[in-house]
Amino acid sequence: MAMVGPFITFNNGVKFPQFGLGTWQSTKEECQTAIRAALDAGYRHFDSAFAYGNEADIGEVINEYIKAGKIEREDVFITTKLWSTFHDKVEEGFKKSLDNLNLGYIDLFLCHNPMAFEDTGSSGLFPTKADGSPAIKNIPIETSWADMEKLVATGKCKSIGVSNYGPKQIERLVQKAKIKPVTNQVECHAYFPQDELYTVCKKHKITLTSYATLASPGRPAYIVDDKHPILLQDPVIKKLAEKYKKSAGQILLRQMVQRGILVIPKSVNPKRIKENSEIFDFELSPADVKQIESLNKSLQLFKVER
Ligand SMILES: NC(=O)c1ccc[n+]([C@@H]2O[C@H](COP(=O)([O-])OP(=O)(O)OC[C@H]3O[C@@H](n4cnc5c(N)ncnc54)[C@H](OP(=O)(O)O)[C@@H]3O)[C@@H](O)[C@H]2O)c1
Repeated sequence: MAMVGPFITFNNGVKFPQFGLGTWQSTKEECQTAIRAALDAGYRHFDSAFAYGNEADIGEVINEYIKAGKIEREDVFITTKLWSTFHDKVEEGFKKSLDNLNLGYIDLFLCHNPMAFEDTGSSGLFPTKADGSPAIKNIPIETSWADMEKLVATGKCKSIGVSNYGPKQIERLVQKAKIKPVTNQVECHAYFPQDELYTVCKKHKITLTSYATLASPGRPAYIVDDKHPILLQDPVIKKLAEKYKKSAGQILLRQMVQRGILVIPKSVNPKRIKENSEIFDFELSPADVKQIESLNKSLQLFKVER
């Protein structure tokens, strides 16, 4: 099966598939079924994170496909992310992800968030202090980035990048960085197109990776507001879906791809996994792209602390 979509060339010369699979929020079984369905459909880029708890599950299926001779290690591109309790122990955080994945090296390692947390021993991903307040730790982004840069020299990490960084943080980081991030993975969809951030990243030859391209209909209840419109049901998107004989999801993904942005739609449903990949056989006209651009509501669904 040929790879879905084109490669994008990062600022370090590495070629990386523009299209990939998101894997947040699934059980082991769902995740492994999704990886198999995606590999069979031609996906070669997989987005994980230490915080998703699924690195080992993903690595297991990829190793299964390598052993069966269906793919080689070099055919697949794995992104994973340093969790915020590891900003002052980057090497340790990286080693955990490397061991979990068990794939020899990591293609792309992202600093998951700009803010750091103190590991207070409280349970869950977001540590709290004794008084219940968030255990935010003051570690400058430049300090953890310098440790991220050291990973590249080990040969076990092909590219490094960031996630959830705003325009000011990108400007600040590139001032001191010896190695520029290759990408910034952020919430980006038709209701929140990130135009300013995209321009800043482009200026520094940093690609943008869109998460929640479909506006994350399955996001956790604590970030769902019933007053928010549902992007997949937007009348403009539905009309375009009829016009192009595609689904609403395919229209949203196609528009992002036409912007030159990397996309990682998540699905654990084999039918939707295939459907989401079928976006490279049509092109939205400039007038229709304008219609989608006009939907911008500056509606950020994921509140990111900076
Ligand atoms: N860096 C970060 O902080 C961060 C934050 C959030 C997400 N991410 C990454 O980005 C990925 C994508 O973001 P996301 O998962 O939040 O949102 P998303 O890709 O916008 O949406 C995924 C949701 O949409 C459903 N879906 C998938 N394809 C569909 C289609 N064609 N039509 C209708 N519904 C469809 C999925 O359900 P089914 O599974 O049932 O198909 C799932 O509930 C994540 O999985 C993760 O890898 C990163």
